[in-house]
Amino acid sequence: MERKLIIAANWKMNKGPAETVEFIEAFLPGAEELSEKCDIVIAPPYVSIPAAAALLADSVVALSSQNVSDQDAGAFTGEVSTGMLNEVGARYVILGHSERRAIYGESDQFINAKVQKVLAAGIRPIFCIGETLEERESGKLEEVLRTQVSGGLADLTVEHMTDVVVAYEPVWAIGTGVTATPDQAQEAHAFVRTLIEEQFGKEVAATTRIQYGGSVKSGNSAELMAQRDIDGALVGGASLEAVSFRDLIANAVA
Ligand code: PGA
Repeated sequence: MERKLIIAANWKMNKGPAETVEFIEAFLPGAEELSEKCDIVIAPPYVSIPAAAALLADSVVALSSQNVSDQDAGAFTGEVSTGMLNEVGARYVILGHSERRAIYGESDQFINAKVQKVLAAGIRPIFCIGETLEERESGKLEEVLRTQVSGGLADLTVEHMTDVVVAYEPVWAIGTGVTATPDQAQEAHAFVRTLIEEQFGKEVAATTRIQYGGSVKSGNSAELMAQRDIDGALVGGASLEAVSFRDLIANAVA
């Protein structure tokens, strides 16, 4: 089953509007050619989304946000709704990132509410899962992934699931420079695909794109993407500089 690669830049709390414009102007030349083999997504902080949208509107690069509210509107100080994201042209939303889970206490149930809200708004979730080092070392990898997948993707229709991108990000590999080996990553991805199959059936599982995240860079993107069940990457640190992010994608599609 052919699955087009999808590589997304997760800028986290980096780059205001000025730096966002600088990055995109440097990144866009050459992006069209890369996009033939790989969907490209950039997720700036909320305040930089309008500046990014203006430059990306007629481009091959899709815009994402890094979070969204589970509510439509009203007295929710500090929150942003799916309606607002639609208005500024965001086509993806990163949900369930380990930083949201660990620092802001987001539960599987809460993430599920956001996933449903995003899908109902016609936006695509990039749904993140992954285990800590302690969980992996104590033999809980499969249990953790099973709980995150069944909880975070609960009550989704098969049709909705076809709009979901999954990102497997072992927490111990995020921002640490320690990447999962291609074998470790492949093993986890294959397991995640069986979980999707159990929940949504063979056909959906075969077409769902599963990104790997955690210290992906231009030097390791090729061997990771060469794995059978790895269909893209969610990239933090190495997505902050235009030329190296482009190299990362170029190596991944080569
Ligand atoms: P990293 O972050 O590439 O800096 O490890 C990945 C992520 O958190 O999505």
